[in-house]
Amino acid sequence: MSKNPRLRLDRLLANLGYGSRRDVTKLVARKLVKLDGELLRLSETTLEITPDLIERLTVDGEPLEPLPGLTLLMNKPAGMSCSHREKGDLIYTLLPERYQARNPALASVGRLDKETTGLLLITDDGALLHQITSPKKKIKKVYRAHLDRPLNGSEAKIFASGELMLDGEKDPCLPATLEVHGSKEASLTIIEGRYHQVRRMFAAVGNHVNELRRESIGQLSLPANLAPGEFRAITPEELSLVFSD
Ligand code: URA
Repeated sequence: MSKNPRLRLDRLLANLGYGSRRDVTKLVARKLVKLDGELLRLSETTLEITPDLIERLTVDGEPLEPLPGLTLLMNKPAGMSCSHREKGDLIYTLLPERYQARNPALASVGRLDKETTGLLLITDDGALLHQITSPKKKIKKVYRAHLDRPLNGSEAKIFASGELMLDGEKDPCLPATLEVHGSKEASLTIIEGRYHQVRRMFAAVGNHVNELRRESIGQLSLPANLAPGEFRAITPEELSLVFSD
């Protein structure tokens, strides 16, 4: 027996953002949906969901949208939020409408705050999201900060100590590594994901972060050719780098 899931055509296409099941029925009635070049005439048709469906099933002559298990990497621009709970523009509005209508929904893997830029993963795979954000995995995240005031030389030791307390928290930050690039510029590597952690760590040593960019997650760096606001599907090689130390 096949292990692949089976889904009705109308459910499949609705989940991939083509509209409601009623909309999909209309697409089928307009003879726009084909499998292996043959018209599919019934939206109730059940299909086996195999990876090759994206080449075999076409809608209005276009290949099918990516199947669930979609992970994107984005260069997050400043001024957009990752959380639906925050006011203002959301990063999801940078995605095509169909991506925004998918079920399961695409969600950011952890959050970057509104003004922070750089590498952001977005996925519809809840298990993957959990694996990357789980504190147990201790995945390194590197942030490059432009600071308001010159570093005083004590910061690296304090950040590495494992004793730095942030306002309102009961446990100290886990040891973090500071690499200084200039009097007001440094990279900080952390293995946690507390709320506004990097900004609050610098605030705790009397400084202020003016600009913050996430440069890498695990061994995966922000691709140089991805401009702010751009995104693309992650490759399997890139995804395995996320879990490399
Ligand atoms: N630390 C911050 O202060 N902001 C982020 O977005 C991520 C880490």
